[in-house]
Amino acid sequence: MDLSGKSYKAFLERQEALKKQYSPKQAEKQHSKGKLTARERIGLLFDEGTFEEIDAFVTPASQPVEFGKVEITYGDGVIVGHGKVNGRLVFAFAQDFTIMGGSLGYVHAKKIVKIQEMALKMGTPIIGMMDSGGARIQEGVASLSGYASIFHNIIHSSGIIPQLCVIMGPAAGGAVYSPALTDFVFMVNHTSYMFVTGPQVVKEVLNEDVTSDELGGAMVHGSKSGVAHMIYDDEENTIMALKKFLAYLPSNNVENPPAVADDGSTPDINEKLRDIVPDDPNKAYDIKDIIQLIIDKNSFFETAELFAPNLVTGFARLKGKTIGIVANQPKVLAGVLDIDSSTKGARFIRFCDAFNIPILTLEDVPGFLPGKDQEHAGIIRHGAKLLFAYSEATVPRITVIIRKAYGGAFIVMNSKSLGGDFSFAWPTAEIAVMGPDGAVAILYKKELAESKNPAEMKKELVKKYRNKIANPFIADELGYIDEVIDPAVTRKKIISAFSALSNKWVKVPSRKHGNMPL
Ligand code: HXC
Repeated sequence: MDLSGKSYKAFLERQEALKKQYSPKQAEKQHSKGKLTARERIGLLFDEGTFEEIDAFVTPASQPVEFGKVEITYGDGVIVGHGKVNGRLVFAFAQDFTIMGGSLGYVHAKKIVKIQEMALKMGTPIIGMMDSGGARIQEGVASLSGYASIFHNIIHSSGIIPQLCVIMGPAAGGAVYSPALTDFVFMVNHTSYMFVTGPQVVKEVLNEDVTSDELGGAMVHGSKSGVAHMIYDDEENTIMALKKFLAYLPSNNVENPPAVADDGSTPDINEKLRDIVPDDPNKAYDIKDIIQLIIDKNSFFETAELFAPNLVTGFARLKGKTIGIVANQPKVLAGVLDIDSSTKGARFIRFCDAFNIPILTLEDVPGFLPGKDQEHAGIIRHGAKLLFAYSEATVPRITVIIRKAYGGAFIVMNSKSLGGDFSFAWPTAEIAVMGPDGAVAILYKKELAESKNPAEMKKELVKKYRNKIANPFIADELGYIDEVIDPAVTRKKIISAFSALSNKWVKVPSRKHGNMPL
């Protein structure tokens, strides 16, 4: 090649122009808001020297713009490409707010669509780092159609490759559906927000004053709406957490999750497990204390920690292999199942099932939350989602009934009749149609009404019910659970059961798809 020739010179000039496009002033603007630039984010995400950028020189379409102007820049406000994250191939895009507010025009969208298609073809995860004012106003319907193509690709890649999203600035308008359609959403506290209509519209329509953070900040979506699953205080920690998270997941739905070496520091038999559940069945304890004693040391990655904390979900490792954990949390609302925990659990289970991640269920649930609020808001419809998700899941599924397993909640939480593979119970388990108080009140209504000392009579009957019915032994004798186990051997039992299930294969009849109650 002639290195002094015209085309080589043009090549160098273009490289130089691309570098100059990102001025220190632009970077400073991002930094002053506590945000990094798109290039800095890409730099943090990928293993050093592995990122390969695609389409760095594409420019916005030179279509006529009737209103405002489109800046003609290299890359059109989004960096796309592939590289290695912890040594594994990943595709990613990072929107650049310094270029027209990271707004999504026709070309910007085409770049994202291109890597979405490549990630799907290669069977690799895709990560979107969002920092955008949404559809580019000047490009009108072309940018809307760009969003539609992105949504379409996310939906058609769903369950085939993991799709993760990090919100690192605004995500406004219909653009929020792009993250909402992905598997897991990470947000940065105080610098990111998502809403369908912003504070200005809220003021105009409802005459309410609300800040962006109050309306759609990370804490709102992490704890109230459930849109965001993981929240961190700055971008660096968010990206580091995302990299750690990715290590639990397979690259696609035909691979198994990657295994790591188990350092052997969690004992397979641990007598401390016998002391966690209080003697008083109405006393709370922290289910996470049990989780920590049965998984590989420090391997729990909790998802949606702040949303519906009465149900704990997350990934962990057992002898180095990824499992998904779904656990009632007696510490919050006595671990009851309500609308939010049902949808949280259902979505998590479906992710695990799509990506070959075995599920461990730890059960201590008094039932579904009663009351007008829940009934009117559709606990029947939403509870059915959890039922559907468990029953549909074909990955290995093990339950350990720690304490309460009453009524419909016993069925829902991965009972054997719902297709659960192994079901163990601790001696503290209470398996029955309903709790002692309710059962006594219904069965002895007349007798209690006629009793001279109803309180004493009720106490006796509750005691009798506990001894006779609310225990694991009847279910054990009838084969509805597989074994009552000493809590100390729980890890050993689970490891052995998952190992027995490692070649589990279920043939499901062909159909277009089930009709999950949505
Ligand atoms: C074109 C945009 C833009 C947009 C921001 N900019 N949003 N350009 N289209 N959607 C430009 C601004 O003009 C400005 O350009 C630069 O980006 C930075 O914006 P600022 O407003 O100065 O920044 P800031 O004060 O931080 O406010 C950020 C913001 C605000 C909250 C995102 O810009 C905003 O409200 N934008 C509009 C949000 C929105 O409603 N988008 C449409 C959503 S509807 P200069 O040249 O001054 O630097 C949608 C439909 C999707 O997305 C449909 C899917 C089905």
